[in-house]
Amino acid sequence: MKIACIGAGYVGGPTMAMVALKCPEIEVVVVDINEERIKAWNSDKLPIYEPGLLEVVKECRGRNLFFSTDTRKHIGEADIIFVSVNTPTKTNGIGAGKAADLTYWEGAARMIASVSTSSKIVVEKSTVPVKTAEAIGKVLRRNCSDPNVNFEILSNPEFLAEGTAIEDLRNPDRVLIGGADTETGRKAIETLVSVYAHWIPRERILTANLWSAELAKLTANAFLAQRISSINAISALCEATGADVQQVAHAIGTDSRIGSKFLNASVGFGGSCFQKDILNLCYVCESVGLKEVAEYWYQVVSMNDYQKQRFVERVISAMFNTVSQKKIAIYGFAFKKDTGDTRETPAIDVCKGLIRDGAKCCIYDPEVTPEQMFRDLSTPKFEWDRPNYSRSASHMMDNVQVVSDPAAAADGAHAICVLTEWDEFKTYDYQ
Ligand code: NAI
Repeated sequence: MKIACIGAGYVGGPTMAMVALKCPEIEVVVVDINEERIKAWNSDKLPIYEPGLLEVVKECRGRNLFFSTDTRKHIGEADIIFVSVNTPTKTNGIGAGKAADLTYWEGAARMIASVSTSSKIVVEKSTVPVKTAEAIGKVLRRNCSDPNVNFEILSNPEFLAEGTAIEDLRNPDRVLIGGADTETGRKAIETLVSVYAHWIPRERILTANLWSAELAKLTANAFLAQRISSINAISALCEATGADVQQVAHAIGTDSRIGSKFLNASVGFGGSCFQKDILNLCYVCESVGLKEVAEYWYQVVSMNDYQKQRFVERVISAMFNTVSQKKIAIYGFAFKKDTGDTRETPAIDVCKGLIRDGAKCCIYDPEVTPEQMFRDLSTPKFEWDRPNYSRSASHMMDNVQVVSDPAAAADGAHAICVLTEWDEFKTYDYQ
């Protein structure tokens, strides 16, 4: 069996590395249009930082795991094709600011159709709006000239969390596979189940219909983000009343019906998925006439924006209502610890908010490069998720300095804002 994956990103790279590790008899090839990324996957400096990833890649790269830009060849030869490309928020046209932009997905589907001379199982790994498989099925069938080629579409959303991706992939709470309730659909589901069954107990491999699987991913992210927004909303009330949000979180988290995870108040959630997926969920609700449901979920995003803004305002008000020309140390730029990922990190909005009021931000993060920070601070909203976006840091800001030593960031600073919970920040001698 041959597996190919389109998209060598945070999802495609680690998931395929784990499949290759656990299924040594299956050849796994990850392809991408981004040559630089593929080059990095073939080196010892992988394009993404994820604890344990390099070891897994090193064990199977060249054995049964390959990274390539020769998309047409490897897709043509594959039996199962995972599609793990970007599904960003639309910035123009109908649904701008909410709907998922399926340009890259559709492009991948057209390419699959054009090179296929044998039947394929096409797996949605990207997070997509519910009912995407229907549209993709049409694209695949209409663009394939060989009438004997059959495409079976499965939804296999990825639930890994960045920072713990390798552990999540090695030992997932569950794997979800959705497919059509037809004979060929059930057979395709069984084929994919047999891949995961190499290392995951059968009872943790859930099967469902296509639409349930697609919607389960959006729902999971909406629920996770909702917990963060809920505790952040309570943090505002705590600050106004003298209650301590950590004590409140602990008190409610010990209730087994609520549970203790995802109850840490923070500057807000970030990452490439939560906001994008909730906006997408809202758009799907609106497009089927469920305005109230859309408004309900939209509040999760609004509360997150409020929390970031509230943080900026608190910093400014704690400094006699002016940060003009004041140096502020920013500890942490990644959206959470143990990742170098900065997509939608709250640090972007916090730094921009402080700089707008005249502050000079001096940033330190153990994993994020200065180029990445400058790029993030000069990229328009939602544009980061486009592979062809020109990633130059041309609008470098005079009020941003990036340092590689946390003490240098703090030196002469009027304040320190800790924006990522990197473990090292807990052990500094702040005095
Ligand atoms: P990413 O941006 O890291 O990777 C996507 C890759 O696809 C890029 O390297 C891009 O060059 C490539 N690509 C785009 N169009 C292509 C084409 N036509 N042919 C070949 N390569 C193409 O994105 P990431 O984070 O891996 O996310 C991918 C999908 O997975 C998204 O839908 C996301 O919502 C979803 N997801 C992401 C998770 C995460 O933690 N990052 C977790 C679960 C799902």
